[in-house]
Amino acid sequence: MGLSAATRTQVGIIGAGPAGLVLAHLLRRHGISCVVLERQSRSYVESRIRAGMLEHGTVELLTSLGLAARLHRDGMVHHGIELLFGEAGHRIPLTELTGRDITIYGQHEIVKDLIAAWPGPLHFSVSSVTLSSLDTAPTVSYVDSDGVPRTLRCDVVAGCDGFHGASRAAIPAGVLSVFERDYPHAWLGVLAQAPPSSPELVYAHSPRGFALHSMRSPSLTRLYLQVRPDEDLAAWPDERIWAELRRRLARSDPSWSLATGPILERSVAAMRSFVVSPMRYGRLFLAGDAAHIVPPTGAKGLNLAVADVKVLADALHRWYATGDESGLDAYSEACLRRVWRVQHFSWWMTSMLHRSGDNPFEAQLQLSQLRYVTSSRAAATSLAENYVGLPLP
Ligand code: PHB
Repeated sequence: MGLSAATRTQVGIIGAGPAGLVLAHLLRRHGISCVVLERQSRSYVESRIRAGMLEHGTVELLTSLGLAARLHRDGMVHHGIELLFGEAGHRIPLTELTGRDITIYGQHEIVKDLIAAWPGPLHFSVSSVTLSSLDTAPTVSYVDSDGVPRTLRCDVVAGCDGFHGASRAAIPAGVLSVFERDYPHAWLGVLAQAPPSSPELVYAHSPRGFALHSMRSPSLTRLYLQVRPDEDLAAWPDERIWAELRRRLARSDPSWSLATGPILERSVAAMRSFVVSPMRYGRLFLAGDAAHIVPPTGAKGLNLAVADVKVLADALHRWYATGDESGLDAYSEACLRRVWRVQHFSWWMTSMLHRSGDNPFEAQLQLSQLRYVTSSRAAATSLAENYVGLPLP
């Protein structure tokens, strides 16, 4: 077998999740060539269930790219969320407070839309992805889905391959500062064939722990329970899941009940906060989960990834169009400002809503905070503006 020919492209994108795919579409609009490589199969990335809350700015960006037809048809626009504690619901009127709304639409549906609309090279099921010469002329070598070794030469590599990807791991030791925090909880998530039991998302704080009522469509509910990080799914048969949700989502209002139905999918996800700085090494730029993880309370992961790649696409556009590197040089700092705001918000929502240990002092602080954000317009507005998302760069 001879040497495989190298392919040339301007930007090599590692990862076909929301970060990599949105970046690919943004670059294409600027006439910048790219190749997307993905370790998983197409069917895997198109069915990988993740959170499903889109900030206003994320929807606007996808709309401006002409990628939001199905999102506007099937997405559910919401104007508020509810915080439930003491068996009573308290609405945060997001749109009244901020002028912006949110859209409920599954992340994997976005991934499907982005893939369907992508006319360029996108290779699934690649393995052995290796990044080299990142400080000068990056090369990405990999083995394609037929087992053939390939080489991609590019000006720049975008590492959009998630927390466990090859991109961040390719940066030499000692370059990155790592900031992280683990939580003593995980989320057990289920997708159920059942109509939503409330018109809006319900974030519930109860003495038994946190629960979240979300949805995907008029006939699909998405529900989460706070569990221990080492929780065994096998210990959660359907009846136990529904019984626990019923308790944590209970209301003193006798007319409310939890609609149930067949559970279509279930999983346990650990929670962590994680940031690396800088989000760049030479000509490798990290974006999305490759650079930062937020706990899911507030559903910021995808929205943050989209904000990163918007900054990166603008910087690359300026560089290719004028030779001006200042946008690339400012990339990490510009992203990290937003990342830390969102880190704080996600940590704050998590701490306010989850049961952590048995400290009665902390439990009273949580209740005080919940009463405050649901009774003070100023505090509710602060929650709301973070929840709907600060304007995109
Ligand atoms: C979801 O619908 O999956 C979801 C919504 C809001 C969150 C987290 C997850 O904060």
